[in-house]
Amino acid sequence: VATAEARQYGKVFDEVAAEYDRSRPGYPRELIEEACALAGLERGDRVLEVGCGSGQLTRDLLTAGLEVVAVEPGAQLLSLAAGNLEGVGEVSFVNARFEDAQLPSGHSRAMFAAASFHWIDPEVSWAKVADVLAPGGTLALMQHCGLEEQRSLDDQQALLSMLARVAPEIAAGWPAYRDLPSLLDGVEQRSENVSEVWAWVGSHDLARPEAGRLFEDVQVAAVPSLVEQTAEELNALFGTISAYSRLSPGQRQEIESEFLALQERLGRPIRSSTVCVLVTARVAGRDTAV
Ligand SMILES: C[S@@+](CC[C@H](N)C(=O)[O-])C[C@H]1O[C@@H](n2cnc3c(N)ncnc32)[C@H](O)[C@@H]1O
Repeated sequence: VATAEARQYGKVFDEVAAEYDRSRPGYPRELIEEACALAGLERGDRVLEVGCGSGQLTRDLLTAGLEVVAVEPGAQLLSLAAGNLEGVGEVSFVNARFEDAQLPSGHSRAMFAAASFHWIDPEVSWAKVADVLAPGGTLALMQHCGLEEQRSLDDQQALLSMLARVAPEIAAGWPAYRDLPSLLDGVEQRSENVSEVWAWVGSHDLARPEAGRLFEDVQVAAVPSLVEQTAEELNALFGTISAYSRLSPGQRQEIESEFLALQERLGRPIRSSTVCVLVTARVAGRDTAV
């Protein structure tokens, strides 16, 4: 029940579509190239993208020469994506949740999902991806995660303790920050089941036993980076996370002032360490999946 309730928040991105389009980061080129290489993709191949938002990853898939069918339930996001991607390549849009989208079986060489797979009902997601992928097709999941790192530790701790004070209900559900070796070690330990790996990476409740039978050859790649943001930039990004919709106007104002106060105290922009994680898995042979 908790998961179903949390999934309702997947709708909120569409309500802040323009801010989302302005503030959300894209994905490192090397991870996109790695995903395409692992999936054996060539120019002209047809791929699916789920939860394309305003096209953060879609642009790179099109630039790589792929033909993209992008599934996105948010009408505002979809219209921004259509504008952003005009003339970039061969893209068609399906305005639906992945759970409800009518997609032909076995038609895609790969399915990409960037910061979106955890919004899909896990009772449906793993089996439906396995169905829409062509034999030997690849699922490629990407997401930016917070990273524990010495060079940003003090700033990140200041932000988390501020959040715990101003919005304890949000801080309680904040995803765990791990250092890179611990993150990768946890992936290694779960590598028999892609859903357990993705649940670990993003601290999501989406692991299902059947995913271990439906997918094989789980691979991971990670690109860490240090981000420096002004209080204003950080506040704009914070306004696009799903938890923001649950804050009162007073909490929002207090957080914005706290970002400014921290920047003033530091005398420089605020540092956060993030890691962009790619997890891929190949759909198992049909006979092993039944
Ligand atoms: C955090 S945003 C990621 C958007 C974009 N891919 C990016 O990387 O910035 C999550 C996206 O998933 C979409 N989404 C939410 N629930 C979904 C569902 N059930 N099926 C497909 N997409 C969904 C949202 O509308 C939103 O565009």
